[in-house]
Amino acid sequence: MSSSIPVVTIDGPSGVGKGTLAQFLVQKTGFHLLDSGAIYRALAFGAVQDGIALDDIAKLVALANALPVEFIGTDILYNKEDITAQVRTEEIAGVASTIAVIPEVRAALLARQKAFATEPGLIADGRDMGTVVFSTAKIKVYLTASAEIRAQRRVKQLKSQGVSANIDQITRDIEMRDERDLNRKTAPLKPADDAIVIDTSYLDIDAVCQKVLSLVKEQALMA
Ligand code: C5P
Repeated sequence: MSSSIPVVTIDGPSGVGKGTLAQFLVQKTGFHLLDSGAIYRALAFGAVQDGIALDDIAKLVALANALPVEFIGTDILYNKEDITAQVRTEEIAGVASTIAVIPEVRAALLARQKAFATEPGLIADGRDMGTVVFSTAKIKVYLTASAEIRAQRRVKQLKSQGVSANIDQITRDIEMRDERDLNRKTAPLKPADDAIVIDTSYLDIDAVCQKVLSLVKEQALMA
């Protein structure tokens, strides 16, 4: 990554509002978007489709190195097929978090993620954007919220998509993914030392967006 390219990193567990904040900032700044979770989900999708065992490191790395994923606007294409809805399932999220524990898989996806940092700038959404992938980013934001509140938000989001969801099951899934993301040896989920930590449990997401936008403006990251 060229250090002259402005990068804003947004990290935190699922359901804290990272995606909403990232989209808002993309609109306001005109920067590119990296949804790194979508890359891990696309790899999970490909692994399931190819019948790759989730502990077969060599095959997972080979797939990661040649992952046929493309991002067109908000659509995720895999081998030119639109998989946007298919990768949003809890099942794929679970597979993604399982293979994301493997250091070789993370290493194989690194260059692909770094390549998103081009003019005029980048909003990078994920788990290790500020700690690993863009460790020299000018602004690092880390969002948190309780697992209970995140589960409620996820159920609401699924219902709005016409998918029925069980709050207890969703809470368990979220806690299991948190456990893996927080405790893995490589790039565990944690705020960078220089990140601004915002608890969104009882904060309106609009307030969070405005707060981060004012930081971006203060740092004069926008042209
Ligand atoms: O953000 P999203 O829920 O789409 O990510 C799915 C999974 O991918 C996460 O639970 C996490 O295990 C993994 N991931 C990661 N590092 C990232 C982004 C996602 O390990 N930068």
